[in-house]
Amino acid sequence: MHTVVNVQQAEAWNGWEGSAWADNAARYDAMMGGFDQPLLAAAAIGENDHVLDVGCGTGQMALLAAHRASRAQVVGVDISGPMLTRARADAAELGIANVRFDQADAEAHPFEEGRFDIVISRGGVMFFSDPVAAFANITRALRPGGRMAFIVPQAGRPGSDYAQATAALAPLMRGPSPASRGMGSLVDPDRIRQVLEEAGLAQVNVSPVEAMMDYGRDAADAADFILGQGPVRFNLQSADQAAVARAREGLRAGLKAYETPDGVRIRGSVWLVSAVRS
Ligand SMILES: C[S@@+](CC[C@H](N)C(=O)[O-])C[C@H]1O[C@@H](n2cnc3c(N)ncnc32)[C@H](O)[C@@H]1O
Repeated sequence: MHTVVNVQQAEAWNGWEGSAWADNAARYDAMMGGFDQPLLAAAAIGENDHVLDVGCGTGQMALLAAHRASRAQVVGVDISGPMLTRARADAAELGIANVRFDQADAEAHPFEEGRFDIVISRGGVMFFSDPVAAFANITRALRPGGRMAFIVPQAGRPGSDYAQATAALAPLMRGPSPASRGMGSLVDPDRIRQVLEEAGLAQVNVSPVEAMMDYGRDAADAADFILGQGPVRFNLQSADQAAVARAREGLRAGLKAYETPDGVRIRGSVWLVSAVRS
């Protein structure tokens, strides 16, 4: 990697949290997959568009973009080595040649000026120490008139389906795991507009998108997945073991209500953001 300014994020995503995500890439892709079509529709990738996927992780969106940008190049950048190892392996296995994965801190990476027609991100742009500097740096990589389309999480709501399904965990969730620090940095649409406009983007549009998120085959399987996710595992490590056992049982019971013939599916909400380089 060239310059890294997000040192703690680099440590976290190159440590156990990044490795755990990479080992469970298919499960995370299933969880997030309902947002792919809205994001791809907003990005409107044509066959000649060079695309940059920021915080590409294990690469599913970059591979979908490469399929669309069939006569152009897709570059995925991510700060996590373990996640990029998985992305490169998938690209090789699928024989997708017009995609490349670079390990980089997107806030400081010396992108080639104006190289890309479109920047996309599925939840990879919330972790920057200086969001305006980071978006300005990423925007520099876009040609004038180039487009950006990404999704970021909305603020968790106490009455949401996810909050109800996972209520048994709530008393044990004392703080964010190292990798999830920053997750909530762009939950406010006004803040998103301010950051993007200060970074040199125009025509900023922020709209809510809902999708069903797949957590597992059944309540037990979904509970195992959620208990293994970085933020939950981090908090449970230091909790009283009897309380963890009770929370595990409570989580399974809570997820039971969301079992469907297609598995455990819970409605989730994100912001879909689009903008243009001025
Ligand atoms: C929530 S994950 C999303 C991964 C992927 N976009 C997906 O949808 O599966 C966030 C990703 O952002 C990456 N990330 C965090 N900070 C970053 C930074 N400063 N520069 C580049 N990538 C970063 C993490 O390594 C991680 O892969």
